[in-house]
Amino acid sequence: MATEYELKKQICDIGKRIYNRNMVAANDGNISVKLNDHEFLCTPTGVSKGFMTPEFICKVDEKGNVIQANKGFKPSSEIKMHMRVYEKRPDVGAVVHAHPTFATAFAIAGIPLTQPIMPEAVIALGCVPIAEYGTPSTMEIPDNVEKYLPYYDAVLLESHGALTWSVDLLAAYHKMESVEFYAELLYKSKMLGGPKEFDKETVERLYEIRRQFNLPGKHPANLCLNKHTLNCHNCGKGSAAGACATNGCSGSVNSDAKTYSPEVVAEITKQVLSQLGMQ
Ligand code: 13P
Repeated sequence: MATEYELKKQICDIGKRIYNRNMVAANDGNISVKLNDHEFLCTPTGVSKGFMTPEFICKVDEKGNVIQANKGFKPSSEIKMHMRVYEKRPDVGAVVHAHPTFATAFAIAGIPLTQPIMPEAVIALGCVPIAEYGTPSTMEIPDNVEKYLPYYDAVLLESHGALTWSVDLLAAYHKMESVEFYAELLYKSKMLGGPKEFDKETVERLYEIRRQFNLPGKHPANLCLNKHTLNCHNCGKGSAAGACATNGCSGSVNSDAKTYSPEVVAEITKQVLSQLGMQ
């Protein structure tokens, strides 16, 4: 079991990783770790997460109130968002918020990551919905993220970034890496004319692998198994009114938001690139 000081060092290491991998710019992003039900470590507000040392790290209670912070440091302005994850998901030990380029571009375009295009993304994430836009630092973000918490371990934050959580800090960070890699592959395959999606049987075989590995966390594979219904990847494709949709697996921000076919996305992308003189 890592000591509190070791956990603070781990937060600094993960801060360096998200900064060095272009997942955050300037002072963006925040990280937290659960010590016990009433104590949490978190990054301070307004510092570059790439240059933190353990003295930067603050300790808060389950409401986000300061228990300990060194002079000049205050907990992240997004601490309430982190606390909502811990409140609704007792299995979670760490939360990471970042603005990775590709995932954030999807969040800005209002396109959830719902296309099953490669095995690791299907197994690790299922699909990644978009939580409705909220003003940073207000209760709007925790309130809008809440409905996704029982079913997923990652969401895009509309017009803002991404939020991931898992059993410990490395696992929560890995979710962020997976989200960004999935978004990058989806973006690039759209540039190449649109990804070739797995069919339902292939997706179900991958979900079965996930169940056999007994991977921690929530995932559409478990949700859909329980509901005896289609997997998450089918949501928003004509069957959006099905059981997935009513269980938070809307695959989209707004109830009236559309999921575009790869062909439509590829065509729109081509037109935009051509208008920008890039094609
Ligand atoms: P903090 O520095 O307050 O954690 O905020 C950074 C951020 O990315 C807000 O969305």
